[in-house]
Amino acid sequence: MNTRFSASIARHLPDLMALRRELHTHPEIAFEEQWTSARLAAFLEASGIAVERGLARGTGLIATIKGRGDRTVALRADIDALPIHEETGLPYASKIPGRMHACGHDGHASILCGVARVLQEHAAELPGTVKLLFQPAEEITSGAPLMIKDGALKDVSAIFGLHGWPELPLGHVGVRNGCLMASTCNFFIEITGRGSHGANPGAGIDPVVVAAHLTTALQAVVSRETNPWEAAVLTVGKIEAGTTTNIIPETARLEGTVRTLSKPLQDRIRAAIVRMAENIAAAFRATAKVRFNEFPCPPLHNDPAMTDLARTAIDETLGREKRIEITHATMGGEDFAYYLEQVPGSFVFLGFHNGTEGSYPLLHNPRFDFNDAAIPSGVAVLAELAIRSLESVAGR
Ligand code: NI
Repeated sequence: MNTRFSASIARHLPDLMALRRELHTHPEIAFEEQWTSARLAAFLEASGIAVERGLARGTGLIATIKGRGDRTVALRADIDALPIHEETGLPYASKIPGRMHACGHDGHASILCGVARVLQEHAAELPGTVKLLFQPAEEITSGAPLMIKDGALKDVSAIFGLHGWPELPLGHVGVRNGCLMASTCNFFIEITGRGSHGANPGAGIDPVVVAAHLTTALQAVVSRETNPWEAAVLTVGKIEAGTTTNIIPETARLEGTVRTLSKPLQDRIRAAIVRMAENIAAAFRATAKVRFNEFPCPPLHNDPAMTDLARTAIDETLGREKRIEITHATMGGEDFAYYLEQVPGSFVFLGFHNGTEGSYPLLHNPRFDFNDAAIPSGVAVLAELAIRSLESVAGR
């Protein structure tokens, strides 16, 4: 790596790694990131960077680096952890049982702190203002819409972000025009029957049987109601009912997720879930109520011109050979998609593995740990992208 930021990044790297491991030890899930938010704000303020606190229900932050000119671009990192019990055995493993930074958001937040420090040092070269968004609650795809509601995109002309990616090689960055990640929508179905003795089913209405039929029927939504060239996933991830062998319970609950690469298809599948739940329940004399999560996430669409800027930033900082063109979208979701609905921008994947594909623990795995060796590439690409995008929007 040979960039205008190399010396600066090398100087800050020990602090960024220490911060990353400190964050890793203190994972906090969606909207509970009080310690994380305070720690990040303290790190930034100690570097002389202005921070606005209390966004997105309390734990979101915006740091601002002001250069010359009135254009503004934004960079974003997510800061929340997952409800997973860590099994890495690392000296800096989670100290909170059942909580873990298993998606690398500790690394994303540390990288953005590094970008803040580097850009602060290069403020004289900045042809505008860079807003750094530290966003809570990405894992439940709720933080981004709330940051937007609280004005995070005010005056912003373009936005960029990254995610650590175990399937890509270390030191490489993956880009893609158009759809990079799927829409996500979670569904919650409550089936109500009539409880009775297990020996006397005729006196009751069995919601367990309805749940079983409905689970099977839902498998036909993707296979029979969507076109084969439209990617879609419908997974029932949780079924809950009953207490013991000889009781027919009153209720049963199904929960699951829908992934598509287009919003209209998501809408069609949502309608199909409601139709099947209500009608299958009715066929068995039960009732079903379907609820979806508050913020179903749209598909993530990268703007081609902004993605070209990302390509230039990668080629200039890491070298053309380190840029990977991603060939198809992943069915994973990312609430960065909300920002991209409002302003053009691009989201990129930061490579992790140092051997063959599959050699690095995958995201959301209890043995996953963010690869600190990827921090310098992440900082360099985002800092370069901030400056280049400001130059680009300033030149329009
Ligand atoms: Ni993530």
